Amino acid sequence: VTPDAFVLAAGRVITCDDSLGRGPLGAFDDGAIFVERGRVAAVGPRADVLARAQGAPLVDDRPGGLLSPGLVDAHTHAAWAGSRHDEYAMRLAGEGYEAIAAAGGGIVSTMRAVRGAGPGELARALRARLGRMARQGVTTVEVKSGYGLDEASERAQLEAAADASTDASLPRVVPTYLALHALPPEAKADRARYVDDVVRRWLPAIARAGLARYVDAYVDRNAFRVDEAEALFDAARTLGLGTRAHAGQFADVGAAELAARFSAASADHLENVSDAGLDALARAGTAAVLLPVASWTLAQAPPPVEAMRRAGVRLVVASDANPGTAPTESLPLAMAFAARSYGLLDHEIWRGVTVEAARALGLEGEAGVLREGARADLALWLLPHERALLQPWGAPPLAAAYRDGVRLGADP
Ligand code: NIG
Ligand code: FE
Repeated sequence: VTPDAFVLAAGRVITCDDSLGRGPLGAFDDGAIFVERGRVAAVGPRADVLARAQGAPLVDDRPGGLLSPGLVDAHTHAAWAGSRHDEYAMRLAGEGYEAIAAAGGGIVSTMRAVRGAGPGELARALRARLGRMARQGVTTVEVKSGYGLDEASERAQLEAAADASTDASLPRVVPTYLALHALPPEAKADRARYVDDVVRRWLPAIARAGLARYVDAYVDRNAFRVDEAEALFDAARTLGLGTRAHAGQFADVGAAELAARFSAASADHLENVSDAGLDALARAGTAAVLLPVASWTLAQAPPPVEAMRRAGVRLVVASDANPGTAPTESLPLAMAFAARSYGLLDHEIWRGVTVEAARALGLEGEAGVLREGARADLALWLLPHERALLQPWGAPPLAAAYRDGVRLGADP
């Protein structure tokens, strides 16, 4: 059991607080953190923190280790069931992702698995996945629905997220209703009616039940149109929910501009986006959530990172954990790909999985930063420096992760 007040020390600390005059990661050597009642009470040089901590126990001291904010995975589809290994084999043999989807595979094949899941199965799968994410240093996870494609099955996914969020020994969960993801087979004949059901019936009921904080739409050439997502976002705004969009994964159909018009929390993927779209995102403060495991799995070219920098768009890196385009549970793997295949810099990646990711989930100042008063969400790595984590570890060496000052994975 984690004590109520304790100290952790490490040879290297990154706070991800850029207001300290210590670079974009607020980094220093030989530091410590004092945690009291789930919040950061002090963080800084070891001697200062130990003096402030007034005898609170030093529970972990890693002179060769790294202390960082707990990682924040701002885009996952983690409440899934089933496996799409046969489709991956088809894609390796040359078949396209969109063609497989058009033939009734893809998202709809996971829909069948989700609809067929037994009682408690989605919750168990999600809890297990979140537990494994915690062992990779992740302490906050956005979880989307989007594989139910009817009201009851979408709710079943969101109820699995609600179930997981009652467990203090797992990462904190931010639930998103991915309302427009694919047309289920039963809606093929009447697309307009499906969108109308989603917008006028399912969304208000899900919002009233408190099952989602954000609404998401997949806006692309073989997915939903801008006008359909616009109707959804209008309704979400009225209901007090934030918005986010899968934008430009395969084609630029104006999804970034749409996201910006609604001051969406994020526009995600963005392999295909114009300079005007990026300017709009920057002006709106809408984050670009980059998903390098997905574009790697699909063998796609990277998004226009240099143009994003020029436009001043806020960059986030996430796993996209899903059974189709990103069969992974590892945000550190996405970090490694962001470095090697996107050319993101170490501080862009680290901020993109901590402070910027938290901001994109409405947790600014709460998570993703080690600062007095913030939640004590931390990761203690058996690595000497933050750059060491950008290497492609299959399983990065972690000593411990804490959420709200409670050690994850341990009995709460
Ligand atoms: O983020 N592109 C749409 N949605 C997911 C993939 C979903 C799936 O293939 O199951 C994505 O890549
Ligand atoms: Fe996604």
